[in-house]
Amino acid sequence: MNIGFIGFGNMAQAMADGLILTKAAEPRQIFACAKNWDKLAAAAGSRGVNPCRTAAETAEKSDLVVVAVKPYLVEEVLAPVGGLLRGKILISVAAGVGCDRLEEILPEGIHHLTVMPNTPVSVGEGVILCEQKHTLTEEEFEKFTELFSRLGLVETLPASQFGIAGDLTGCGPAFTAMYLEALADGAVLYGLPREAAYRLASQMIVGTGKLWQASKAHPGTMKDAVCSPGGLTIAGVAELEQKGFRAAVIGALGAIQERKN
Ligand SMILES: NC(=O)c1ccc[n+]([C@@H]2O[C@H](COP(=O)([O-])OP(=O)(O)OC[C@H]3O[C@@H](n4cnc5c(N)ncnc54)[C@H](OP(=O)(O)O)[C@@H]3O)[C@@H](O)[C@H]2O)c1
Repeated sequence: MNIGFIGFGNMAQAMADGLILTKAAEPRQIFACAKNWDKLAAAAGSRGVNPCRTAAETAEKSDLVVVAVKPYLVEEVLAPVGGLLRGKILISVAAGVGCDRLEEILPEGIHHLTVMPNTPVSVGEGVILCEQKHTLTEEEFEKFTELFSRLGLVETLPASQFGIAGDLTGCGPAFTAMYLEALADGAVLYGLPREAAYRLASQMIVGTGKLWQASKAHPGTMKDAVCSPGGLTIAGVAELEQKGFRAAVIGALGAIQERKN
């Protein structure tokens, strides 16, 4: 299957990198267009993927087309290619451009699905949220799932949960990167070299996530398992509670909701 990206910025490049890294696609099977040709040529050239002059050329050469421009540009970039998408799979990653909006923008009969990926797709460890409402056939959805599950966890959600789930998985990498940096700062303060601190902290975060996935234990139980009475970990936990760690994380998701309103 040839894969086309209309818009080849941060998210499209993360997806292309994940597809290439996991061998879900060869670079020669990937086509991309963007606004600035020189920038596109550099980004495509470094990956061995094919730069295209126009969105129409990208659509023509692809079986599955990902629209990955900023949300306010989706209508503009899809207008000249609408008809070329017939018989192909269109995937939109633009935040807030759901199934109903695509139905308004596109000519009748285009098969499309709105997803919300996050940046760890570039290493095959992302989350790809799918809106429950879409116009793909069952067979097309299966093809999509087979390809995109190489990039991480593919999860379908009703429209009512899609927004908050996207905030969790899409903004979460920034929060987690802050936690990673803060852990390393603390360790550096007490003498651990910076690189070692990042290496150890990142694996600790990966491992804790995998431990939850394997056990499905309540996170509180996982915390308790590390806190011996009067021990070191509980001293750190008490400090985090006092500084409002959990309230701050919950509040971060709240701030996103407020910003959206
Ligand atoms: N970044 C994330 O973590 C993330 C997560 C989930 C969803 N998304 C969604 O992904 C989409 C892209 O976000 P991004 O972060 O990748 O943005 P970005 O880095 O700014 O990339 C946008 C891309 O669109 C291209 N573009 C602009 N005008 C165009 C046109 N007329 N025709 C073709 N291409 C055009 C840009 O080309 P030039 O660079 O040459 O201008 C650039 O390659 C957004 O809708 C966003 O909601 C992003």
